[in-house]
Formats: sequence, structure tokens, C-alpha cells
Amino acid sequence: MQEYFALPPLAIAAGRGGWLVDTEGREYLDGNASVWTNVHGHRDPDLDAALIAQLGKVAHSTMLGLTHAPGAELAAELVKLAPPGLGRVFYSDNGSNAVEIALKLSFQFWQLTGQPEKRGVIGLAGGYHGDTFGAMAVGDSGFFHDRFRPWCFPSDHFPAPVCDEWAGHARQADGTKSLDALRALLSRRAAETACVILEPSVQGAAGMRLQPPGFVSDVARLCREHGVHLILDEVFVAFGRLGKMLVSADEGVIPDFLCLAKGLTGGYLPLAATLARDEIFEAFLGSYESRRAFFHGHTFTGNPLGAAVALANLRKLRPLIESGQLQERIAHFGRTIDKAFAQHRRVGEIRQRGFAAALDLVPVRGSPKRFPEAERVGLQVCLRARDYGLLIRPLGDSLLLVPSPGLSTAELDQLVGRTVCAIDAVLPI
Ligand SMILES: Cc1ncc(COP(=O)(O)O)c(C=O)c1O
Repeated sequence: MQEYFALPPLAIAAGRGGWLVDTEGREYLDGNASVWTNVHGHRDPDLDAALIAQLGKVAHSTMLGLTHAPGAELAAELVKLAPPGLGRVFYSDNGSNAVEIALKLSFQFWQLTGQPEKRGVIGLAGGYHGDTFGAMAVGDSGFFHDRFRPWCFPSDHFPAPVCDEWAGHARQADGTKSLDALRALLSRRAAETACVILEPSVQGAAGMRLQPPGFVSDVARLCREHGVHLILDEVFVAFGRLGKMLVSADEGVIPDFLCLAKGLTGGYLPLAATLARDEIFEAFLGSYESRRAFFHGHTFTGNPLGAAVALANLRKLRPLIESGQLQERIAHFGRTIDKAFAQHRRVGEIRQRGFAAALDLVPVRGSPKRFPEAERVGLQVCLRARDYGLLIRPLGDSLLLVPSPGLSTAELDQLVGRTVCAIDAVLPI
């Protein structure tokens, strides 16, 4: 907050399409998709209409002991999109909660089926699953969460695979060591392990750390062989972010639990869902006094406004994916990044997949030297980007470019072009 208060405040008053407008009337391209949530742009007419229509019916009604049409319809849609067998949907209201629910369901399942010693969790190094305690416990976000370790339950982590990729270039891609480490962990600990959790394909908050093709299905196979649940956290990667609805369904991977949030409502409202396999659901059935029920619920779980706008989001997204339009935009984004940064003297590694990219800023390309942390170079570039009408966010000295899938190719060019201007202004050659 000390740093934030020292900067001129920037308050957003309006938005349209890929753009946000501040209270002074200045326009900014939203290169962060409003924290990785926005899918079709701001004030999308179809999403607005769905929301207004639902407002004419009811804004909120609980899902404790009741249901409602948009919630039920959305659950049916999600089940259709999900890998086969994930027939049950548990709603909540943000990504961290979707993860907490998957973890608790996994823990309780093993208790209910007579294996209470299966309590451990294995996550992927660099994993981020949210800021609540369970999510922190299974994540690996370094100093973001380190000071809360004493209050977190212990978990293991296996090393992430290596994979640099953008616009068809792949400097390195190898998941072998990572999979060997997971296999070794599972061989020793499967009997005490409830689940493995990871973000499939791209670890967003770790700085767009990519996984080689086939990595997630190899992890799924190891989990199955060792009788351990697999939780896929698609909070970041789903709903067009990587050009598909769901990474798991696209790659033919069947997890036990699937966590969804962010883009589910096109970035309009807080809504999340944890999908579970039918067999897991069935283990929770029993009389009240058998105490098999899952005692977990959030007040705004499955909010009807969120569900109505999520249905409109999915209706609008499907043709964009099926027609190949999103893939074309992604290819264009990759080529533009390649042209602008592959030879840029201030950019070391580039990682891009779908509408997700990270550029590591360095003093000189090819040299191992890094900027001193206190210079806050990444932040300085993002602040300068505002002068060029662009909102992006840094992660240390990496710039994260996370456009809405709804941006046009011309807007994607502007995103990259304005980023170049900001880098060159802060770090002139
Ligand atoms: C992969 C992943 N999981 C979970 C979360 C947490 O979601 P939320 O911020 O909605 O709690 C995030 C947020 O960035 C995320 O990227």
C-alpha cells in the first residue's frame, strides 16, 4: 500500500469491448482481461442482456435446499463440456473456494470409503490455487504465502516440467524429470495420499510456466495407477483462454475433480464450480445421521445472475472456438509477439500459449544478469504503459500479457505495440 499510495490513483469508470475508461475519460486497452477473467470484452451486449433478463426474475436465491433454473441449466452445460464421468457440479463463488471444495471432497471421500489415512496432497512446484488456507497449503507461491506456512497443513510438491514456447518456437520441452519425481513420490506415499493437484497446461501465476503436450495425461495415468485423486485447477486456463473450452476435455484427460471460476461468467460476476465424478458423489449419499453429507456452503453459491451470464458466455464462446476464430487470433498473437520480442535486447525468455504470455525483462538478452529487485523494473514498465493507454501487470520483472479472447487482431497488435513502447521508454538501449 505504501507503494500504491505514492502513485497517482487510477479509477476505472467504464468499459467497452477490450477497453477500460478512467474517471478522467482516458482509455486503456485491458491487457490483463480484468485479472484474467474477461472473455468477450466489457459491456458485451449479449452478456448484458442475459444479466438484465435474469434481474427481471430474481437476483439471488439460495442453493441450500433449493434450486433455480439458470443454476440447473448451467450445471447441465458444464457436465456436457466436461470430460466423461464428471457428472456432478458443486457451486461456489471464486477460484480459491472451488479448490478448497475439491480438496475437502477428496479428503472426505477417502474417509467415507474406509481409507482415512489417505490425507496427503501433492502439488506441482510453482503452483498457485488461491489465497485461502487450503489453497495456500497445496500451492507453492514462495514469499506470497511463506509467512502463513505455520498455519497450513503440509503438502509435497514435485518439480514442474520445462517448456518454453511461443508462436511455434519451442526452445526446450521436457517433462521426464518431473514425471519421474511424481512417480517416485507416489510409489512411496500413495497409501497416505488423497490427491494430486495442478493447473493443467499453463501455470499462470508462476509466470506462464508451460507444460509439454501430453504431460497432464501422463500425470493422470500415474494418479490412476496409484489410486490417488487428480484435481485439475482450470480456473485460469478454461473458457477460451487457451482457445478451447476446457483443457482437460480437449486433451482427453479425465480428472476426479475439475475447478472452474474466472472466465466462467465471461468475467462479469463471481461464480465458481467444482465438478466431481459420479462415483465420488455417490459415496456421500446416506441418511442424515450417518454424517456422510458434505457440510460446506457459501452464501452466494450458484448465484442466479452469475449462472445466467455464464450460460450466455458459453453460448457465445462455442461458435468462436468451433469456427477456428480463436485459434486464428491466438496464432496472430503469437506471431506478433515473435516479431516484437524474439530479438528484443531487453527480453530474455518468452512464454506464450493461447491468450497468455510472459516476457522476462533482462538488462541484456542472452546474459544471466538480472535487474536488482528494488528497481521494480516490471512495475515501472507497467506504469509507463498507462501513458500509452495500456493496462498490464508485472510479476517481478516479467510482464504478463493476458488479453481477452474477444480482442480483435488489431487490438492484439496494439497490446504488443504499446508494450514495446513502454519497455523502450523505461529501458532505452
Ligand atoms: C489457477 C488458479 N487457481 C485459483 C485461483 C484463485 O482464484 P480466485 O482469485 O478467484 O480465488 C487463481 C487466481 O488467479 C488461479 O489462477
